Amino acid sequence: MKQFHKATKQQSFLRMALVGPSGSGKTYSSLRIAQGLGNRIALIDSERGSAAKYAGDFTFDTVELDTSFSPSEYIEGIEAAVQGGYDVLIIDSLSHAWNDKGGILELHDAIAAQDKSTNDFTAWRKVTPEHNRLVDAILRAPLHVLVTMRVKTEYLMEKDEHGKSVIHKVGLKPIQRDGIEFELDVVGNLDENNTLVITKTRCKSLFQATIHHPGEDNIAPVLKAWLTDGAAPLISDEQSKELWQLAKKAGLSVGGLLDLTNKTLGQAYTSPREITLDEFPRIVEVLQPPQEKEAESENAVG
Ligand SMILES: Nc1ncnc2c1ncn2[C@@H]1O[C@H](COP(=O)(O)OP(=O)(O)OP(=O)(O)O)[C@@H](O)[C@H]1O
Ligand SMILES: [Mg+2]
Repeated sequence: MKQFHKATKQQSFLRMALVGPSGSGKTYSSLRIAQGLGNRIALIDSERGSAAKYAGDFTFDTVELDTSFSPSEYIEGIEAAVQGGYDVLIIDSLSHAWNDKGGILELHDAIAAQDKSTNDFTAWRKVTPEHNRLVDAILRAPLHVLVTMRVKTEYLMEKDEHGKSVIHKVGLKPIQRDGIEFELDVVGNLDENNTLVITKTRCKSLFQATIHHPGEDNIAPVLKAWLTDGAAPLISDEQSKELWQLAKKAGLSVGGLLDLTNKTLGQAYTSPREITLDEFPRIVEVLQPPQEKEAESENAVG
């Protein structure tokens, strides 16, 4: 049976998008924000090495995508960043996974061209899982992820305060699949003056915020506070099962495990599922039978 439990905000990793036309500050701002979020920064560069021009201003490692921009290539880059133990991953830009060589649009067209009987709808049905795989990889990666997205640019003629006509470069739709912003915590549009306007946010403090030259000294501390003010992350289902196994071996009932947990941690949990990730090793320690503990320490010595 499904069981409801009290909703809590857990410490989490950021998923943010910076959207803007060329020169608006997508690369530079994401590097500045990343610098405020963690120490080790990885950057997937699909813009022909353009991020490397900022190597003098920031310390980061980069991997270039240059022949194919397929979701698989991006996913490989995300996995490498996770395995490399980075704190923050910048994907600059995610737009190429949509409309460049090997990207979703090309995959769609290739499927449609293969077989004349394949209609547009069927082709999308085949290619959508590929897009979803990439979105999933971004959402699941245990590090902060900042993605940049290009926009189709348009020029608008407007009157300034003196009535003089001025031309503005404005960004329109992000070049990515419609709805991508639903998946992310914070989305902002950058303009030609490197000013970020937040268009979507789960972080209340940034609601409709406008930030000039976003970076480590203005938006990053707000994001960091938001990401860390939640409850500590809880143990996984697997870890919960592991505790039950150990408890059974130790001859403990459900109530017994809970009592032992609360006594050890000085908590008043109503279920062992409330044990946090950092408390987990202590409970394993007290549940382990003495002979196993001895064997472990002997192994460690030997
Ligand atoms: N947050 C910022 N703080 C200070 N300066 C900035 C910031 N964002 C952008 N700039 C300035 O604007 C310049 C252009 O920014 P950037 O290269 O990030 O643009 P971009 O949107 O990535 O462009 P492209 O789409 O062509 O890659 C930077 O070299 C820097 O001088
Ligand atoms: Mg750039």
